Formats: sequence, C-alpha cells, structure tokens
Amino acid sequence: MTEAVPSIKPTRRELLVAGATLAAAAPLAAPAIVSAQTPAVEWPKLPYADDALSPVISSVTISFHYAKHHRFYYDNMIRLVADTDLKSQPLLDIIKVSMVNPARIGIYNNAAQFWNHSFYWNSLSPKGGGAPTGAMKDAIEKSFKDYDTFKKDFAAAANGQFASGWAWLVADKDKKLSIQRSGNADTPVVRGFTPLLTIDVWEHAYYLDYQNRRADYTAAVIDKLLNWEFAAENLSKA
Ligand SMILES: [Fe+2]
Repeated sequence: MTEAVPSIKPTRRELLVAGATLAAAAPLAAPAIVSAQTPAVEWPKLPYADDALSPVISSVTISFHYAKHHRFYYDNMIRLVADTDLKSQPLLDIIKVSMVNPARIGIYNNAAQFWNHSFYWNSLSPKGGGAPTGAMKDAIEKSFKDYDTFKKDFAAAANGQFASGWAWLVADKDKKLSIQRSGNADTPVVRGFTPLLTIDVWEHAYYLDYQNRRADYTAAVIDKLLNWEFAAENLSKA
C-alpha cells in the first residue's frame, strides 16, 4: 500500500513559537532536501541580512552559524525522521516525542537544536537591545524588580552555563517571567514554558568575534540586539 505524501505545513502559531517569520514558509532556493518526502518542517530564512548584526556579531559568524551549524541540525533531523512515524509531524511534536525515548536521542538533539536556533535568530534584531517598553517593560519590572536586575540575572545565566548551551527568558502559564539556562540542545519549550528570548552560548556563536570572552558577547547582545518586539509577541501568546 502506497503511503500518501504528507502535506502538513506548520501553522502560523507553530512558526511563531519556532521563532520563524512568515517568510519562513518559503524555503531557500534549492534546499538540500535529504528525504524523498516533502518535509513537514521547512528551512527558515534569516530574518535579516547576515551583516545586519555587525559589529556585535559579524557576518562571518552569522554565515557560519546559520548556513553551517544550524543547517547541520536541520539536515540531520530530516534524515533521521525520514521513513519513521515522525517524518510528517510538526516540529514541536518531533521534539516532544523523541525526548522521552532514549533510542531517539539523536532526533531529539537535532530537532531541539534546530528549534533553538530558529528561535535565536528572531531573538536578535539590528534595532534591538536596551530596556523594553510597553507590555514587556511592565512584565520585566513585575518579575525582576527592574530592567537592571533582569539584565544582571540574564547575563549571569548566560555566562554561568557550563560548556555549551542556552540562556532563556521564559514565561509560565501565569505570564510570570523567569530566567533559565539549558545545556547542549535542551530547551524549555518541552517543560511547559513559553520562551520569550534566548542567547546561544555555544562557542560557535561567539568564538570568531570574541574568542573566549563569552561575557563580552552576552553583554553586547543584551545591550544592543535583544528583540523586545519578538518577546512581547511571544508573551501575548503565553
Ligand atoms: Fe548555535
């Protein structure tokens, strides 16, 4: 019996949660599709030019990080779910199903890393940084006392993550904000939190520009790149 070719596309909500813009619905030209099937999860477009975050993050770092590291996780995920029951599932379902099955740790690591990176690109903006306004200002002050306290705590989480991982600003179901950090591919989205912003603290995110000075990278990202509009949009859906 011939299996139908899946036609599932991510919903707008799934794209938003994955940190993708609506432009992500269109794959880049000639993507390296590993599976003969049309993947349910598509390769997202960067939301800005690769030199848009310079000098905080150089175009060299962005181009390697996006086109090599991020793409590596995507291609691995597509290859690993091909010809399995996960091949046509939405990304968050792939992550949640594989995370509870030790035999599928490879799928989990690559799918979660793909999700984390898509979210990271949208957590940054050439017009970002500084203290938030509006709803995010209110939420930060309610949960952290003030912006300076948030800034200090977020930097401490990013700088204190041992080895590779991520720092996160998340909201719980009551829209209370908190800061988390996760190792390797781990992601708070599987623990019932709504991520608002993240900083990638794997060395590939900063080593070309800052070498071992992770604290300089995280301070510059917080001061100049955090995308508070993206955070507010995510918070409104928490
Ligand atoms: Fe990364």
